[in-house]
Amino acid sequence: MDSSDLLPFLTSRSSVREYHTAPVSDEELGYLLQCASTAPSAGDLEAWDVVVVTERATRQALSTAALGQRHVAAAPLVLVVCANYTRSMTRYGGRGTLYAVQDATIACTYLMLAAHALGLHTCWTGAFDEDKVRRIVHLPDDVLPIALLPIGHGNLPVARTPRMPVENHLHHERW
Ligand SMILES: Cc1cc2nc3c(=O)[nH]c(=O)nc-3n(C[C@H](O)[C@H](O)[C@H](O)COP(=O)(O)O)c2cc1C
Repeated sequence: MDSSDLLPFLTSRSSVREYHTAPVSDEELGYLLQCASTAPSAGDLEAWDVVVVTERATRQALSTAALGQRHVAAAPLVLVVCANYTRSMTRYGGRGTLYAVQDATIACTYLMLAAHALGLHTCWTGAFDEDKVRRIVHLPDDVLPIALLPIGHGNLPVARTPRMPVENHLHHERW
């Protein structure tokens, strides 16, 4: 891939909220995780973890926890992407919570883009009841769920979600 390939690759991804039942294979899941494990992380501590969910009842429970968002139950695979506070705080103390969230966020981004490279669809899902998600997948107290990532084969939206002009993000020299 060279630089002329990257922007079309990125712009061809969209969040998908309609899924078919076709499963994600173990080989595909393995590829996604291998890609995520290449992500940078604070102190190389990789303070992220993933709960792999395929059971229908668990996906349905996660969908309910995600304020009833149906795409979470419809996708055949849901990754609960988590920040592992202890792994980072052991070295970085209080700052480690921020690093763990960043590590997990980058890992989730890599998972999403790796899925796109395989022709799979995803929808980063951040709106959920954290306590319910904790209970459903039995997360320990020092682990924060940062996103649900449903993955599968689905229907792309008819139009790409527009972006604001990049200039709107910029502040030159000072805010
Ligand atoms: C932190 C975060 C939280 C999000 N939460 C949700 C969500 O709960 N439900 C949903 O349908 N989409 C969610 N999205 C997806 C955004 O709506 C989507 O990325 C945005 O509208 C741009 O569309 P695109 O991904 O198709 O380019 C979330 C995305 C991010 C990065």
